[in-house]
Amino acid sequence: MNELITKAEACLHAQDIATTLRKLSEAFGEHLAFSTSLSLEDQIITHFIFSNNLPIRVFTLDTGRLFPQTYETMERTRKKYGKTIEVYFPPQEEVERMVNAKGMFSFYESVENRKECCFIRKVLPLNRALQGVQCWITGIRAEHSPLRSNTQLIEWDDSRRIVKYQPLLHWSTSQVEAFVKEHNIPYNPLYDQGFLSIGCQPCTRAVAPGEDIRAGRWWWEQSHKECGLHTR
Ligand code: ADX
Ligand code: SF4
Repeated sequence: MNELITKAEACLHAQDIATTLRKLSEAFGEHLAFSTSLSLEDQIITHFIFSNNLPIRVFTLDTGRLFPQTYETMERTRKKYGKTIEVYFPPQEEVERMVNAKGMFSFYESVENRKECCFIRKVLPLNRALQGVQCWITGIRAEHSPLRSNTQLIEWDDSRRIVKYQPLLHWSTSQVEAFVKEHNIPYNPLYDQGFLSIGCQPCTRAVAPGEDIRAGRWWWEQSHKECGLHTR
């Protein structure tokens, strides 16, 4: 068991996410960060951080291909809490090289192209955002997918050499929806139109009732429902 995991686990307070987050911020200081995609889950975590005035960096990755509604949700959140959500953009030269060579929709043409786009637009800015970070908070839930159901509340990401904490891992969808409503948390209006998991606009569609939460992500691909942010 490595010492970062031990340090993070010592902060874990059963049931009380705000206390855990506060203890993590005391233990890890500036080496702690939360990545938000503005999803329902992430908005709850943002609410815990901002409404408790916790000194935790909150950042988002703007791929350049997000829905207008996602940007609006970002703005409503900034205004409601009066706090900063740091925005990280992809490296300009890499994006230009890719779209000039392959066009604006290369990701539909092959899995390789799709992974290239996710790597340039998401993974590279994430790498930058996580520089110096020892503990990374995410909004992953076990119900999202069978792969994610194996995730631990606090776990070691060996590829990044970082501890991950997923406070809402064991929350159900109805718990998430009820919390957002009860606390009047701003959320992406696309959610009410069946967009249960929201990423980039060209790569996300609404899901039909009964479909998997992530069925609308990269829907044209059979098996690849991860973009490389969360490698396991
Ligand atoms: S993804 O890997 O398929 O894109 P998903 O949308 O389910 O991930 O989100 C899981 C977690 O990854 C989020 O709770 C958030 O912590 C992080 N994440 C995903 N997309 C972004 C983004 N654009 N900006 C910041 N964090 C993100
Ligand atoms: Fe590119 Fe689609 Fe990945 Fe967004 S989700 S980075 S548009 S391939």
